[in-house]
Amino acid sequence: MQLFPNLFSPIQIGKTTVKNRIFMPPLSTNLAEKGYVTDALIEHYSNRAKGSVGLIITEVTTVEPVYTYLPGDMSIYDDSYIPGWKKLVDAVHQYDTKILSQLFHPAGISMDACA
Ligand SMILES: Cc1cc2nc3c(=O)[nH]c(=O)nc-3n(C[C@H](O)[C@H](O)[C@H](O)COP(=O)(O)O)c2cc1C
Repeated sequence: MQLFPNLFSPIQIGKTTVKNRIFMPPLSTNLAEKGYVTDALIEHYSNRAKGSVGLIITEVTTVEPVYTYLPGDMSIYDDSYIPGWKKLVDAVHQYDTKILSQLFHPAGISMDACA
């Protein structure tokens, strides 16, 4: 008996088809630099994609500049972040892996709110 018979079957999520059921949950790395995608982040996520993850959900990605959570978190609150994200997404797509940003606002657990 096969334990997870559908594990390597594609799954449809809305308009998107994910190649298998292996999803990576959000795991903070603190590898961003002032919110920007770094080469280390690209290497980290593209290695996961190379290892056959179907869908990567990124670590927290902050959506506005005032309240930050951890200093190495990624951000996506203005267009200056687009080139880094484009490199990251392209690197992951090489392996036919989908990537979903975990949009995040720390609110009361922000380091700034605690200061
Ligand atoms: C080092 C570390 C970083 C994490 N970063 C995030 C994160 O950025 N966003 C989030 O929603 N969860 C985060 N988590 C929670 C993981 O997604 C969660 O542990 C994982 O989904 C497994 O679920 P479980 O701990 O209930 O077994 C983190 C967990 C760890 C251990």
